[in-house]
Amino acid sequence: MEVILLMAMTVDGKIARNQMELVNWTGSKDKQYFVKITRNAGVVIMGSKTFDTIGHPLPGRKNIVLTRDKTRKSDDSSLVFTDQAPAQILADLKRQGFEQAALIGGSVINSLFAKENLITQIHLTLVPAVFGQGLSLFNTSLDLSLAYETCKEIEKGHLLLIYKVIPHV
Ligand SMILES: NC(=O)c1ccc[n+]([C@@H]2O[C@H](COP(=O)([O-])OP(=O)(O)OC[C@H]3O[C@@H](n4cnc5c(N)ncnc54)[C@H](OP(=O)(O)O)[C@@H]3O)[C@@H](O)[C@H]2O)c1
Repeated sequence: MEVILLMAMTVDGKIARNQMELVNWTGSKDKQYFVKITRNAGVVIMGSKTFDTIGHPLPGRKNIVLTRDKTRKSDDSSLVFTDQAPAQILADLKRQGFEQAALIGGSVINSLFAKENLITQIHLTLVPAVFGQGLSLFNTSLDLSLAYETCKEIEKGHLLLIYKVIPHV
């Protein structure tokens, strides 16, 4: 199963100033790319904090939201709240016929999947901004090796970088 980590990041490696910040600083081309990749995958996986900043499920895609809060429930099959382990989530998605999933943050959930070596690709839009403080792409110690695929300037100064994660042998 391909798991694409899809994130926008400042030049100093930040994905948000704080836990509650809506991602509205990345530019229109990054937004278009986000829609393209997530619609193509058909499923997005995110943490509850990221979901709350968006405020609603992303239409036309299955939304998997990680939370330990048992009171969060949904009657809609396109919005799933879960505390399943990452590998279990991916196994279920595979059974449902998904071949790709877009992992869309935040820092906590990125780290959860990275620690278990479940991320297969990283698509990063490097945005020409510096926050100085804030949340990083990951929040834990990791040892991932990446193979560079491509880099494209999608908007003046905004670089889309694509890496494959080299599997651990
Ligand atoms: N720049 C970008 O591209 C980008 C992309 C996405 C998000 N962001 C930003 O990132 C920030 C949010 O990131 P974050 O790291 O604070 O939070 P997050 O990863 O979105 O969500 C963390 C939450 O996930 C749940 N969780 C954590 N571990 C879990 C586990 N093992 N099982 C089940 N649920 C688990 C918990 O939810 P409960 O507390 O509900 O139990 C936890 O509070 C926001 O500001 C957002 O805008 C930026």
